[in-house]
Amino acid sequence: MNINFIETLACISKIIDMINPKLNLHHVRTAFIAWQLANAADFTPAQCRKTLLAGLLHDTGGLNEEARLQPLAFDDTEHNDHAAIGGELLASVPLLSPLSDIVRYHHTRWDHGRGAWINGKKVPEESHIIYLADRIDVLIAGDNKQQLLQAKEKISATILNGGNSLFKPEYISAFHKFFHVDGSWQRLQSTDFNDYIKEIPRIHNDYISLHNFRDIAAMLAFHIDGFSQHGVQYSLATGRISGYLARALGIAPTQCLKIETGGFLHNLSQLSRAIPGDGEEGLSPAWATLSPITEIQDIASWCQALDKKDTHSISRLEVRILRAGVFITSLLQDITTQTEFFARMAQTGEIAPELAYIVQNHHRAIMQIYQDSVRERRRLVERINRLAPR
Ligand SMILES: [Fe+2]
Ligand SMILES: [Fe+2]
Repeated sequence: MNINFIETLACISKIIDMINPKLNLHHVRTAFIAWQLANAADFTPAQCRKTLLAGLLHDTGGLNEEARLQPLAFDDTEHNDHAAIGGELLASVPLLSPLSDIVRYHHTRWDHGRGAWINGKKVPEESHIIYLADRIDVLIAGDNKQQLLQAKEKISATILNGGNSLFKPEYISAFHKFFHVDGSWQRLQSTDFNDYIKEIPRIHNDYISLHNFRDIAAMLAFHIDGFSQHGVQYSLATGRISGYLARALGIAPTQCLKIETGGFLHNLSQLSRAIPGDGEEGLSPAWATLSPITEIQDIASWCQALDKKDTHSISRLEVRILRAGVFITSLLQDITTQTEFFARMAQTGEIAPELAYIVQNHHRAIMQIYQDSVRERRRLVERINRLAPR
């Protein structure tokens, strides 16, 4: 199964922006501007692609609402923890690790050339371009879109003012080159996400596997759990335990992978709680956002069924497995010994009989998966805490 990479990251960037209306379109518009600047600066096609992909996720390290709004001030004199944290999160996903340093350094000022290096390490060119694109978008977002055409001189002057101190001079030239093309400013007036996406080229054959999507979902699970009450390991453990149960039942490998991914994302609606109303076809807004990724529609339907506690859909084996994964993970949050786990599982009627049998026979392995998930998340949190000392 092949899933379009850019579409996936674009959808995820939209979900990350959902938590506050002020962030609306920030990722996709920054990525769009950065990609245009990279082209105008004669970046290679590979560099343009990396700029675009990193632009779509550049503020992913803003793990709470405050941290996400902080970099929206043009004068970003604050220490930007979110860039270092974003770099750390991307480094944990093999497919996204080549974007890690770009995101890590995306608030590096040019500082008359001193910003070309940090601690003996070269700052990626893509970071400098994204920083400029990000600042342009912050200025655009601060202006009423209807008045953008009137404000463009003021915005241009502010950007020009930052030349050499904030931004690399070559990229200021790229800014002039792109923004002097007829219609460039008008395109940025749009408040429709799809207007930006349709401009971004779908790079031929730029597909990812379901394994890759599963790994990206595990990263998103960390964001989701940051907005829920269940602890940082909750979605990761639910996904891994659900995947284990599916494999123990002898289900086909692709389906097992989808069930594991469903466990990672089962609480996705948490991220769009602030948005009123339902999305398309009764989906929660967060799930509606992922709907362009047609390959995961079945995962979305299982998780929605789980959300709505829809008794009819429990007839689906995948939903019963995910339900068991959620239940077992919740139970294990309060249990420390295998004897206690075994005893509690024997008492419960919450799990479908075919799964209860597996849990009884595999309780040691399941508890191990839970404990490994806790350890993995704790290590990530410790690394993040070292990057953002309080
Ligand atoms: Fe940022
Ligand atoms: Fe940003």
